[in-house]
Amino acid sequence: MPPVNPTTNTIEGKVFYYLVPPGRQCDPKPSEIITTQETLKIYKHLSHGTCVVAPRDGLSFCKVKFIPFQSMSPEELQGWEKLVCHFFDRTNYVEAVKNNGPQMNGSMWADGWRKSSKKESFGRYCSVGKLLKMMRHSNYNPEDEATAIKQASDFISIQLQHLAPGVFESYRQVLIDNNLPSMSQMEYPLPYDALDFASFLTFTMYNFHNGPHCNTDANQWTLVCWIPIFNPRTASDNEPILADEGFDMLGGQFTFRHFQVCLDLNKVLGVTLCVFRSRDHTHQTLPGASPSDRYTRIGFSCQMSEAMSKAVVAYINGTAPNLKVAGQQQQVLNAQKKL
Ligand SMILES: [Fe+2]
Repeated sequence: MPPVNPTTNTIEGKVFYYLVPPGRQCDPKPSEIITTQETLKIYKHLSHGTCVVAPRDGLSFCKVKFIPFQSMSPEELQGWEKLVCHFFDRTNYVEAVKNNGPQMNGSMWADGWRKSSKKESFGRYCSVGKLLKMMRHSNYNPEDEATAIKQASDFISIQLQHLAPGVFESYRQVLIDNNLPSMSQMEYPLPYDALDFASFLTFTMYNFHNGPHCNTDANQWTLVCWIPIFNPRTASDNEPILADEGFDMLGGQFTFRHFQVCLDLNKVLGVTLCVFRSRDHTHQTLPGASPSDRYTRIGFSCQMSEAMSKAVVAYINGTAPNLKVAGQQQQVLNAQKKL
């Protein structure tokens, strides 16, 4: 008999299966671009424990785990806190993404490696202007930056391996088979280590929501995670990072409309970790808000882009001889020219 966790009354390690009946394998309101909270009432709401979702007659496409803060050790809490602070810090180096197709509101940032949309190059996301500012006004140290990125990406990698080791392996296979840079690497090419699995991540805040869509990344499965936090725009300095019992966000659910399934992120005060088949199934983040404005939610997901995979192939095969690779060193050089 597995141990019962006294704080949550759940049996550790137990996984619940939700098999979507054939009659519920359709979008009940295709005309609604943003599924209303009214329509959501007929959805199956997942909000506790560990759950795997599959159509009754098909392959599973989602595994989700709701982890209450109160079930975590002080070290685990600190790990999540540190990750949130890392994301806050990264906004000092990368610009918010201006045009992400399905995004409708909120803020999104990207960090790690991508193919440049303008030039024939791939490199780390970096705002030279922001980097310059960090060099002028703080003790910018490229080694510290690299260490912080490595620690955050290792932490995420370990969470993914615990939740879904098979998904970790399939991510890693795409990374290695395509010779892609890992998000924890500051230059390219470098040898992989045991925790490398994806090239970049995006993170969102401030009531981010988007329209129904499928992803077009190189990875079949995507890791997504949500963390309830105090709103950094309204929080005072002495407030904690992770949200407390006062957390009052409404909405913001993550849905699979063709299966009438939603991940309800408001029932458990804690972290929600999820892997799902992002290319095959339409998904959507619904609008949400904290009436007190004291809270928000940070969401992040890890990817590898197809555009970059193609650029890397061309680079390696020598069919793109002028293609530039811009790791940390190059970005620092670019900024230094403007100092
Ligand atoms: Fe998506």
